[in-house]
Amino acid sequence: MKQITKAADLELAVKEAKNQNLEIGLVPTMGALHEGHLSLIERALKENDLVVVSLFVNPIQFNNKEDLEKYPRTIDADLELIKNLELRIKNSCSDKLLAFTPTVDEMYPQGEPKEVYHFGPVEEVMEGPRRPGHFSGVAVVVRRLFDLAQPKRAYFGEKDYQQIAVIRALLEQIKYPIELIPCPIVRADDGLALSSRNMRLSPEARAIAPTINATLEQAAEMAQYEDVDDVKEWVLDTLSTFHEVHDVKNGLKFEPEYFEIVDARTLQPIENWEAAGDLGAVGCIAVWLDGVRLIDIVKF
Ligand code: PAJ
Repeated sequence: MKQITKAADLELAVKEAKNQNLEIGLVPTMGALHEGHLSLIERALKENDLVVVSLFVNPIQFNNKEDLEKYPRTIDADLELIKNLELRIKNSCSDKLLAFTPTVDEMYPQGEPKEVYHFGPVEEVMEGPRRPGHFSGVAVVVRRLFDLAQPKRAYFGEKDYQQIAVIRALLEQIKYPIELIPCPIVRADDGLALSSRNMRLSPEARAIAPTINATLEQAAEMAQYEDVDDVKEWVLDTLSTFHEVHDVKNGLKFEPEYFEIVDARTLQPIENWEAAGDLGAVGCIAVWLDGVRLIDIVKF
Protein backbone atom coordinates (compact mmCIF):
# COMPACT_ATOMS: atom_id res chain seq x y z
CA MET A 1 0.00 0.00 0.00
CA LYS A 2 1.17 3.47 -0.81
CA GLN A 3 -0.20 6.49 1.02
CA ILE A 4 -0.82 9.62 -1.03
CA THR A 5 -1.87 12.91 0.51
CA LYS A 6 -1.62 15.28 -2.47
CA ALA A 7 -4.16 15.41 -5.28
CA ALA A 8 -1.39 16.09 -7.81
CA ASP A 9 0.45 12.91 -6.73
CA LEU A 10 -2.72 10.89 -7.15
CA GLU A 11 -3.21 12.35 -10.62
CA LEU A 12 0.34 11.39 -11.50
CA ALA A 13 -0.07 7.82 -10.26
CA VAL A 14 -3.33 7.52 -12.19
CA LYS A 15 -1.70 8.86 -15.35
CA GLU A 16 1.04 6.25 -15.09
CA ALA A 17 -1.51 3.50 -14.54
CA LYS A 18 -3.55 4.67 -17.53
CA ASN A 19 -0.42 4.65 -19.70
CA GLN A 20 -0.05 0.99 -18.84
CA ASN A 21 -3.75 0.36 -19.59
CA LEU A 22 -4.41 -0.63 -15.99
CA GLU A 23 -8.02 -0.75 -14.77
CA ILE A 24 -8.65 1.37 -11.70
CA GLY A 25 -11.16 0.68 -8.94
CA LEU A 26 -12.23 3.41 -6.50
CA VAL A 27 -13.47 2.86 -2.94
CA PRO A 28 -14.51 6.16 -1.34
CA THR A 29 -14.61 6.13 2.48
CA MET A 30 -14.50 8.52 5.39
CA GLY A 31 -12.06 6.30 7.29
CA ALA A 32 -12.82 4.70 10.68
CA LEU A 33 -12.61 1.51 8.69
CA HIS A 34 -14.29 -1.77 9.64
CA GLU A 35 -14.92 -5.08 7.89
CA GLY A 36 -17.71 -3.48 5.82
CA HIS A 37 -15.25 -1.08 4.20
CA LEU A 38 -12.64 -3.83 3.90
CA SER A 39 -15.09 -6.02 1.96
CA LEU A 40 -15.39 -3.25 -0.64
CA ILE A 41 -11.61 -2.91 -0.86
CA GLU A 42 -11.15 -6.67 -1.13
CA ARG A 43 -13.65 -6.89 -3.95
CA ALA A 44 -12.08 -3.93 -5.74
CA LEU A 45 -8.64 -5.58 -5.47
CA LYS A 46 -10.01 -8.72 -7.09
CA GLU A 47 -11.61 -6.87 -9.99
CA ASN A 48 -9.05 -4.16 -10.83
CA ASP A 49 -5.33 -3.72 -11.47
CA LEU A 50 -5.07 -0.69 -9.20
CA VAL A 51 -7.31 0.33 -6.31
CA VAL A 52 -7.64 3.83 -4.92
CA VAL A 53 -9.12 3.92 -1.42
CA SER A 54 -9.93 7.42 -0.26
CA LEU A 55 -10.11 8.21 3.44
CA PHE A 56 -11.54 11.68 3.85
CA VAL A 57 -14.07 13.03 6.32
CA ASN A 58 -15.97 15.26 3.93
CA PRO A 59 -17.14 18.32 5.90
CA ILE A 60 -19.65 19.49 3.27
CA GLN A 61 -21.84 16.40 3.61
CA PHE A 62 -22.46 16.96 7.33
CA ASN A 63 -25.44 19.13 8.04
CA ASN A 64 -24.72 18.95 11.76
CA LYS A 65 -21.52 20.49 13.10
CA GLU A 66 -21.43 18.28 16.17
CA ASP A 67 -21.75 15.13 14.06
CA LEU A 68 -18.77 16.30 11.98
CA GLU A 69 -16.70 17.02 15.09
CA LYS A 70 -17.59 13.69 16.67
CA TYR A 71 -16.86 11.67 13.54
CA PRO A 72 -14.07 9.20 14.44
CA ARG A 73 -10.69 9.93 12.83
CA THR A 74 -8.44 6.91 13.16
CA ILE A 75 -6.11 7.22 10.19
CA ASP A 76 -3.17 5.23 11.62
CA ALA A 77 -5.39 2.31 12.62
CA ASP A 78 -7.10 2.52 9.20
CA LEU A 79 -3.83 2.22 7.32
CA GLU A 80 -2.88 -0.73 9.54
CA LEU A 81 -6.19 -2.45 8.69
CA ILE A 82 -5.55 -1.97 4.99
CA LYS A 83 -2.04 -3.43 5.34
CA ASN A 84 -3.44 -6.40 7.26
CA LEU A 85 -6.03 -6.94 4.57
CA GLU A 86 -3.26 -7.09 1.99
CA LEU A 87 -1.51 -9.73 4.08
CA ARG A 88 -4.74 -11.61 4.70
CA ILE A 89 -5.64 -12.01 1.08
CA LYS A 90 -2.03 -13.02 0.38
CA ASN A 91 -2.27 -11.50 -3.01
CA SER A 92 0.96 -9.76 -3.85
CA CYS A 93 -0.99 -6.57 -4.16
CA SER A 94 1.15 -4.22 -2.13
CA ASP A 95 1.72 -2.13 -5.24
CA LYS A 96 -1.94 -2.35 -6.22
CA LEU A 97 -3.33 -0.17 -3.50
CA LEU A 98 -3.21 3.60 -3.09
CA ALA A 99 -4.62 5.08 0.11
CA PHE A 100 -5.56 8.68 -0.62
CA THR A 101 -5.71 10.71 2.60
CA PRO A 102 -6.03 14.38 1.68
CA THR A 103 -6.62 17.31 4.03
CA VAL A 104 -9.71 19.47 3.57
CA ASP A 105 -7.57 22.19 1.93
CA GLU A 106 -6.08 19.67 -0.45
CA MET A 107 -9.51 18.43 -1.45
CA TYR A 108 -11.09 21.87 -1.68
CA PRO A 109 -8.23 24.28 -2.50
CA GLN A 110 -10.66 27.06 -3.46
CA GLY A 111 -12.49 26.80 -0.14
CA GLU A 112 -15.96 25.38 0.30
CA PRO A 113 -17.27 24.32 -3.13
CA LYS A 114 -20.25 26.28 -4.42
CA GLU A 115 -21.64 23.52 -6.66
CA VAL A 116 -25.00 22.14 -5.67
CA TYR A 117 -26.44 18.94 -7.11
CA HIS A 118 -30.11 18.07 -7.42
CA PHE A 119 -31.27 14.57 -8.09
CA GLY A 120 -35.04 14.86 -7.97
CA PRO A 121 -37.24 12.14 -6.50
CA VAL A 122 -34.44 9.77 -5.36
CA GLU A 123 -33.19 12.35 -2.90
CA GLU A 124 -36.57 13.71 -1.83
CA VAL A 125 -37.39 10.71 0.37
CA MET A 126 -35.99 9.15 3.56
CA GLU A 127 -32.52 10.60 4.30
CA GLY A 128 -32.88 13.52 1.86
CA PRO A 129 -35.33 15.81 3.66
CA ARG A 130 -33.87 14.85 7.05
CA ARG A 131 -30.31 15.77 6.09
CA PRO A 132 -30.56 18.86 3.86
CA GLY A 133 -27.53 19.30 1.61
CA HIS A 134 -26.12 15.89 2.53
CA PHE A 135 -26.41 14.18 -0.84
CA SER A 136 -25.19 17.23 -2.73
CA GLY A 137 -22.11 17.24 -0.47
CA VAL A 138 -21.60 13.53 -1.14
CA ALA A 139 -21.93 14.13 -4.89
CA VAL A 140 -19.38 16.96 -4.84
CA VAL A 141 -16.73 14.86 -3.12
CA VAL A 142 -17.45 11.71 -5.12
CA ARG A 143 -17.25 13.62 -8.40
CA ARG A 144 -13.94 15.13 -7.32
CA LEU A 145 -12.69 11.62 -6.51
CA PHE A 146 -13.93 10.37 -9.89
CA ASP A 147 -12.00 13.18 -11.59
CA LEU A 148 -8.81 12.44 -9.69
CA ALA A 149 -8.88 8.63 -9.77
CA GLN A 150 -10.64 8.14 -13.14
CA PRO A 151 -11.86 4.71 -12.12
CA LYS A 152 -13.40 2.10 -14.36
CA ARG A 153 -15.37 0.83 -11.35
CA ALA A 154 -16.55 2.46 -8.12
CA TYR A 155 -17.61 0.47 -5.06
CA PHE A 156 -20.37 1.48 -2.66
CA GLY A 157 -22.05 -0.43 0.19
CA GLU A 158 -25.76 -1.21 0.18
CA LYS A 159 -25.95 -0.14 3.80
CA ASP A 160 -26.22 3.41 2.48
CA TYR A 161 -28.81 2.34 -0.01
CA GLN A 162 -30.04 5.78 -0.94
CA GLN A 163 -26.47 6.95 -1.48
CA ILE A 164 -26.14 4.32 -4.20
CA ALA A 165 -29.26 5.61 -5.97
CA VAL A 166 -27.87 9.13 -5.74
CA ILE A 167 -24.50 8.10 -7.18
CA ARG A 168 -26.34 6.30 -9.99
CA ALA A 169 -28.21 9.55 -10.71
CA LEU A 170 -24.94 11.51 -10.52
CA LEU A 171 -23.33 9.23 -13.10
CA GLU A 172 -26.32 9.72 -15.40
CA GLN A 173 -26.03 13.49 -14.99
CA ILE A 174 -22.30 13.82 -15.57
CA LYS A 175 -22.19 10.94 -18.09
CA TYR A 176 -18.99 9.36 -16.81
CA PRO A 177 -18.57 5.78 -18.05
CA ILE A 178 -17.94 4.42 -14.56
CA GLU A 179 -19.42 1.10 -13.47
CA LEU A 180 -21.18 1.46 -10.13
CA ILE A 181 -20.74 -1.69 -8.06
CA PRO A 182 -23.18 -2.05 -5.14
CA CYS A 183 -21.77 -4.36 -2.43
CA PRO A 184 -23.74 -6.32 0.19
CA ILE A 185 -23.90 -5.22 3.83
CA VAL A 186 -21.36 -6.82 6.15
CA ARG A 187 -22.88 -7.65 9.53
CA ALA A 188 -21.62 -8.61 12.97
CA ASP A 189 -22.27 -12.26 13.92
CA ASP A 190 -25.47 -11.19 15.68
CA GLY A 191 -26.77 -9.45 12.56
CA LEU A 192 -26.11 -5.80 13.37
CA ALA A 193 -24.94 -3.97 10.25
CA LEU A 194 -21.35 -2.83 10.80
CA SER A 195 -21.04 0.93 11.11
CA SER A 196 -18.49 3.38 12.48
CA ARG A 197 -21.34 4.64 14.67
CA ASN A 198 -21.74 1.29 16.48
CA MET A 199 -18.79 2.13 18.70
CA ARG A 200 -20.83 4.94 20.23
CA LEU A 201 -23.41 2.47 21.58
CA SER A 202 -23.29 1.57 25.29
CA PRO A 203 -22.88 -2.20 25.97
CA GLU A 204 -26.60 -2.40 26.88
CA ALA A 205 -27.66 -0.69 23.68
CA ARG A 206 -25.25 -2.78 21.62
CA ALA A 207 -26.84 -5.90 23.12
CA ILE A 208 -30.31 -5.05 21.82
CA ALA A 209 -29.24 -3.36 18.56
CA PRO A 210 -29.41 -6.64 16.56
CA THR A 211 -33.18 -6.45 17.02
CA ILE A 212 -33.23 -4.03 14.09
CA ASN A 213 -31.94 -6.62 11.63
CA ALA A 214 -33.92 -9.44 13.26
CA THR A 215 -37.13 -7.42 12.84
CA LEU A 216 -36.32 -6.66 9.21
CA GLU A 217 -35.63 -10.33 8.51
CA GLN A 218 -38.98 -11.26 10.00
CA ALA A 219 -40.57 -8.57 7.86
CA ALA A 220 -39.10 -10.25 4.78
CA GLU A 221 -40.84 -13.49 5.83
CA MET A 222 -44.11 -11.65 6.42
CA ALA A 223 -43.88 -10.00 3.03
CA GLN A 224 -44.69 -13.35 1.46
CA TYR A 225 -48.26 -13.21 2.72
CA GLU A 226 -48.95 -9.70 4.09
CA ASP A 227 -49.60 -6.37 2.38
CA VAL A 228 -46.98 -3.63 2.19
CA ASP A 229 -48.81 -1.38 4.67
CA ASP A 230 -49.21 -4.17 7.22
CA VAL A 231 -45.52 -5.11 7.05
CA LYS A 232 -44.58 -1.46 7.43
CA GLU A 233 -46.81 -0.93 10.43
CA TRP A 234 -45.63 -4.16 12.07
CA VAL A 235 -41.94 -3.17 11.81
CA LEU A 236 -42.56 0.28 13.29
CA ASP A 237 -44.74 -1.13 16.10
CA THR A 238 -42.37 -3.97 16.93
CA LEU A 239 -39.43 -1.64 17.38
CA SER A 240 -41.28 1.17 19.18
CA THR A 241 -42.83 -1.21 21.70
CA PHE A 242 -39.77 -3.45 22.13
CA HIS A 243 -38.80 -1.93 25.49
CA GLU A 244 -42.30 -2.54 26.90
CA VAL A 245 -42.77 -6.04 25.52
CA HIS A 246 -39.31 -7.17 26.65
CA ASP A 247 -39.34 -5.12 29.84
CA VAL A 248 -36.07 -3.40 29.00
CA LYS A 249 -34.81 -1.61 32.09
CA ASN A 250 -32.41 1.36 32.02
CA GLY A 251 -34.71 3.47 29.80
CA LEU A 252 -33.33 2.20 26.51
CA LYS A 253 -35.76 2.23 23.63
CA PHE A 254 -35.83 2.11 19.87
CA GLU A 255 -37.16 5.22 18.26
CA PRO A 256 -37.68 4.55 14.56
CA GLU A 257 -37.31 7.73 12.51
CA TYR A 258 -38.70 6.14 9.38
CA PHE A 259 -39.26 2.78 7.78
CA GLU A 260 -40.18 2.91 4.13
CA ILE A 261 -40.83 0.13 1.65
CA VAL A 262 -39.69 1.48 -1.69
CA ASP A 263 -38.93 0.55 -5.26
CA ALA A 264 -35.25 -0.43 -5.15
CA ARG A 265 -34.35 1.72 -8.17
CA THR A 266 -36.51 4.84 -7.86
CA LEU A 267 -36.72 4.76 -4.04
CA GLN A 268 -40.34 5.84 -4.26
CA PRO A 269 -42.69 4.21 -1.75
CA ILE A 270 -44.77 1.38 -3.17
CA GLU A 271 -48.29 0.50 -2.13
CA ASN A 272 -48.24 -3.12 -3.20
CA TRP A 273 -45.53 -5.67 -3.93
CA GLU A 274 -46.39 -5.86 -7.65
CA ALA A 275 -45.56 -2.16 -8.04
CA ALA A 276 -41.82 -2.79 -7.58
CA GLY A 277 -39.76 -2.57 -10.77
CA ASP A 278 -36.72 -4.46 -12.09
CA LEU A 279 -34.64 -4.26 -8.89
CA GLY A 280 -37.53 -5.32 -6.65
CA ALA A 281 -38.53 -3.73 -3.35
CA VAL A 282 -36.37 -2.74 -0.42
CA GLY A 283 -37.17 -1.67 3.12
CA CYS A 284 -35.02 1.17 4.50
CA ILE A 285 -34.96 2.11 8.14
CA ALA A 286 -33.40 4.74 10.40
CA VAL A 287 -33.64 4.10 14.13
CA TRP A 288 -32.43 6.06 17.15
CA LEU A 289 -31.01 3.95 19.95
CA ASP A 290 -29.17 5.38 22.92
CA GLY A 291 -28.62 8.71 21.12
CA VAL A 292 -27.10 6.96 18.09
CA ARG A 293 -28.77 6.93 14.68
CA LEU A 294 -28.54 3.54 12.98
CA ILE A 295 -29.62 2.70 9.44
CA ASP A 296 -30.24 -0.66 7.80
CA ILE A 297 -32.08 -2.23 4.89
CA VAL A 298 -33.84 -5.43 3.91
CA LYS A 299 -34.52 -6.68 0.40
CA PHE A 300 -37.96 -8.10 -0.29
P1 PAJ B 1 -18.46 5.78 4.81
O1 PAJ B 1 -19.60 5.90 5.75
O2 PAJ B 1 -17.07 5.73 5.36
O3 PAJ B 1 -18.69 4.50 3.94
C1 PAJ B 1 -17.82 4.18 2.89
C2 PAJ B 1 -18.44 3.04 2.10
O4 PAJ B 1 -18.51 1.86 2.91
C3 PAJ B 1 -19.89 3.35 1.66
O5 PAJ B 1 -20.09 2.94 0.33
C4 PAJ B 1 -20.71 2.54 2.64
O6 PAJ B 1 -21.98 2.17 2.15
C5 PAJ B 1 -19.82 1.33 2.84
N1 PAJ B 1 -20.18 0.60 4.08
C6 PAJ B 1 -20.33 1.11 5.33
N2 PAJ B 1 -20.72 0.15 6.20
C7 PAJ B 1 -20.83 -1.00 5.47
C8 PAJ B 1 -21.20 -2.35 5.78
N3 PAJ B 1 -21.54 -2.72 7.02
N4 PAJ B 1 -21.20 -3.25 4.78
C9 PAJ B 1 -20.86 -2.88 3.51
N5 PAJ B 1 -20.49 -1.64 3.15
C10 PAJ B 1 -20.48 -0.71 4.12
O7 PAJ B 1 -20.43 6.57 2.70
C11 PAJ B 1 -19.50 7.34 2.95
O8 PAJ B 1 -18.46 7.00 3.78
C12 PAJ B 1 -19.39 8.73 2.35
O9 PAJ B 1 -20.67 9.25 2.14
C13 PAJ B 1 -18.57 8.76 1.03
C14 PAJ B 1 -19.24 7.94 -0.08
C15 PAJ B 1 -17.13 8.26 1.27
C16 PAJ B 1 -18.47 10.22 0.53
O10 PAJ B 1 -17.86 11.03 1.47
